[in-house]
Amino acid sequence: MASAPAPKPLAVILAAGLGTRMRSGTAKVLHPLCGVPMVGWVAAAARAAGCDVAAVVHHQEDRVRAALPGVPCARQEQPRGTGDAVRAALRLLPARGTVIVLPGDAPLIKPAMLEALLAGHGDALCTVLSTVVAEPAVYGRILRKGGRVVGIVEASEATPEQLAITEVNAGMYAFEAAWLRDVVLPSLQPHPPKGEYYITDAVALAAAAGRLNATCLDDAASLAGINDRTALARFEDVLQDRILEEHTTAGVTLHRPGTIRVELGVCIGQDAVLEPGVMLSGDTCVGAGARIGAYAVLRDTVVAAGAVVKPHSVLEGAEVGPGAQIGPFSHLRPGARIGPRSKVGNFVEIKKSTLAEGVKASHLSYIGDATIGAGTNVGAGTITCNYDGYGKHQTIIGEDVLIGSNTSLVAPVSVGDHALLGAGSTITSYVPPHALAIGRARQVTFSDGGRTLREQFQARALEAKAAKAAKAAEAAGDSDTESGGGQS
Ligand code: UD1
Ligand code: MG
Repeated sequence: MASAPAPKPLAVILAAGLGTRMRSGTAKVLHPLCGVPMVGWVAAAARAAGCDVAAVVHHQEDRVRAALPGVPCARQEQPRGTGDAVRAALRLLPARGTVIVLPGDAPLIKPAMLEALLAGHGDALCTVLSTVVAEPAVYGRILRKGGRVVGIVEASEATPEQLAITEVNAGMYAFEAAWLRDVVLPSLQPHPPKGEYYITDAVALAAAAGRLNATCLDDAASLAGINDRTALARFEDVLQDRILEEHTTAGVTLHRPGTIRVELGVCIGQDAVLEPGVMLSGDTCVGAGARIGAYAVLRDTVVAAGAVVKPHSVLEGAEVGPGAQIGPFSHLRPGARIGPRSKVGNFVEIKKSTLAEGVKASHLSYIGDATIGAGTNVGAGTITCNYDGYGKHQTIIGEDVLIGSNTSLVAPVSVGDHALLGAGSTITSYVPPHALAIGRARQVTFSDGGRTLREQFQARALEAKAAKAAKAAEAAGDSDTESGGGQS
């Protein structure tokens, strides 16, 4: 009879702390790095190492739970130390198997490091991850006797000799679940002066039972925790480099990667090119061979294969079809859907509108709540007047329409296929297919009127100038008299 498969290890992430040194209204573990909250990185590493995930929460509990979708959370009533935090998770702990404990503020942890922790654990009661650092600062020090680990002492309780130890506790452990529940958690004692319970005390217990393992890893930087915003910024750079390297490995070209920001989860196709200063975030997807120009900012946007987004464009919640061209300086807002091979040029803003294949809106337009048929040319300065102060209204434009420059379409309004709208028109009612609509004042020309008007303007200017000079002379005469110092 086949035995039941061993349950996955459970990773318990300690995420109840506030993180005072962040100087923030937001709990430390919620601060995002490359678009993902700090604690989300830890959860992702644990899952990638084959673990189920649970968490202990307290400060900003609801937001931390929301940052960990699908993760069972236990509430720590009062954060009274890491040992107390693990105890708060008691009801989530499995009866058998392995539990690993992770801090919520170490987002650089790599799955391979957790795999090493699990691989080194074997049938030990406890395995602790340690590393050697040049400046051990506030880390707990690893105490060894005859080479074997015997315990951990916190920096605040260490003797000067112990403080000189450079092997430190990474704050990550593997435990035999039953031993953790039945032996460690009931036996933890508070440490004066704060009365905190330390999970690190488990290490000495396991050592005394002769069943402690220690795994010392040399990549100290990836085990480090974040305490302040300086570290937050530095760690984000590290994660950003890792994300970008995945993309370059997959065949994406990056120009000046140090200036490019790509959030975790953004997908980019092979042979796509990102120019300097590009920012891609949220559910953004860039198709194969697409080019994203310098300083373009894309959020929740899909760019199809072979499309080009030229520099300084801002796209949010938009879809760009294959081979389309956007920018420079275009603004696509949520619901902008640009058809294949369409062209949207500089200072064109598009919102909640669908442009079919081959539409051109090359200059200075606002298109909102509109649909535009294939091949239509939207002249420079065209505006859809979609808002009457109370509600938004639709503009429907057919295929192959020629819209003259500086046309206003007052919605709701529609224009049939192949129609032509005269430049400068204000279109307020339906234009049938193939019609020509012109809605503007008729031009009036007076022969020689220009010359006559200029002469009038010129005469008026000369008159004004003479009056100004006379006034100045009069004022000068007055002041001479007042000072009494005039020449005789
Ligand atoms: C802890 C270790 C220290 C180790 C260091 C590594 C203890 C006593 N010390 O110290 O040996 O070198 O981590 O980073 O464990 N937390 C809770 N509830 C609490 C207290 C903490 O959830 O009541 C969470 C925090 O939010 C944090 C994690 O546990 O994510 C670690 O807590 P922290 O206060 O940073 O412990 P350290 O003092 O760094
Ligand atoms: Mg810490």
